[in-house]
Amino acid sequence: MGQIFSRNADLWLRLALLGLFGGLAVVFLSASLLARSDYATLRGWTIDQPVPFSHQHHVGGLKLDCQYCHTSVATSAQASLPPTETCMTCHSQIWTNADLLEPLRQSLARNQPLHWNRVAQLPDYVYFHHDVHVTAGVGCVECHGRVDTMPLMRRAEPFQMQWCLDCHRDPAPRLRPREAVTQMDWQTREDRRELGQRLLREYHIDTRDLTSCSVCHR
Ligand code: HEC
Ligand code: HEC
Ligand code: HEC
Ligand code: HEC
Ligand code: HEC
Repeated sequence: MGQIFSRNADLWLRLALLGLFGGLAVVFLSASLLARSDYATLRGWTIDQPVPFSHQHHVGGLKLDCQYCHTSVATSAQASLPPTETCMTCHSQIWTNADLLEPLRQSLARNQPLHWNRVAQLPDYVYFHHDVHVTAGVGCVECHGRVDTMPLMRRAEPFQMQWCLDCHRDPAPRLRPREAVTQMDWQTREDRRELGQRLLREYHIDTRDLTSCSVCHR
């Protein structure tokens, strides 16, 4: 009996299957890379603001502490954004006629807060608290980057679940003394892991449950 399929048919079938699976693998791989890319996570992203406020000038240059403006960062869930009055402690005297600051003067005159566009934000279903992190000695820089070098606020980290978990699994090397939490250029000669282990004990941090779902989804 003659063969229905040529000898090569089997080979062609294999090649076709290989091509199909290879193609699918490429699609999945690029989709997962894209999901983690800076494009998808908005890392490095900036947004226009009503007033082009510069952390580089006010923090890097004038050496204002974060808590001068983000007053509740160590005491509540939200860090909070400063009211216009905070800006006016200085800007009622300096740069009083600058066009750039017109929205600020309007806001004061009309008694309406400025609407700042948010750069760092989590979805509603994620539970996050600033104060626990600040009292545990996690520096602002760990999550927000070198804010003192940013002319416009940039999103420094991806803020995805994996990123939170990476630290929650092993926070010790990323802890610092509480007094240094807002210090952008803090360094130590001590070994970070040893220091971290000591701080874990000193601050009574229980790292056992930090990765269970109910910590962040409740
Ligand atoms: C402790 C005083 C102080 C406070 C508080 C302050 N500023 Fe300033 N601001 C300055 C000084 C000084 C300059 C000039 C900086 C320079 O040119 O180096 C400035 C400059 C600016 C500029 C011009 C662009 C720039 O960055 O040089 C803008 C816009 C501005 N401030 C907005 C604000 C806003 C909005 C707030 C409130 C959230 C605020 N400032 C709070 C002192 C202050
Ligand atoms: C003079 C006041 C002032 C000081 C000091 C200041 N900030 Fe801000 N910060 C602001 C204002 C106003 C905004 C809103 C506009 C913007 O995003 O730039 C803001 C926004 C932010 C945001 C983005 C929040 C969001 O979701 O959009 C972060 C993060 C932040 N600040 C961190 C810091 C850190 C960390 C420090 C100290 C190293 C600091 N800030 C010091 C006034 C200040
Ligand atoms: C463990 C990571 C982490 C640390 C440490 C941290 N932040 Fe944040 N920050 C976040 C996240 C996540 C958000 C978004 C929260 C949300 O959308 O509910 C945020 C939001 C903010 C905002 C926006 C306004 C608000 O009230 O939430 C400001 C301002 C801010 N952070 C300032 C600071 C300052 C200043 C420090 C240091 C004293 C600091 N953060 C430390 C993760 C962190
Ligand atoms: C750089 C390290 C670091 C990062 C990044 C971080 N955390 Fe944490 N987080 C900690 C530490 C350390 C504690 C423990 C505080 C304690 O128990 O005193 C903690 C505690 C918490 C708690 C309180 C747990 C409890 O039971 O009281 C929540 C909620 C939380 N983190 C949410 C988040 C979320 C959501 C993210 C990501 C957006 C995040 N964290 C990113 C270090 C981090
Ligand atoms: C340390 C904090 C933290 C813990 C612990 C955590 N998550 Fe999340 N989760 C997040 C954050 C932050 C997001 C939002 C991610 C984003 O916006 O991309 C998220 C998003 C999600 C989503 C939405 C889909 C996605 O992946 O973006 C699901 C589902 C989820 N988490 C399930 C879980 C489960 C199940 C567990 C326990 C095994 C868990 N999470 C533990 C922080 C956490």
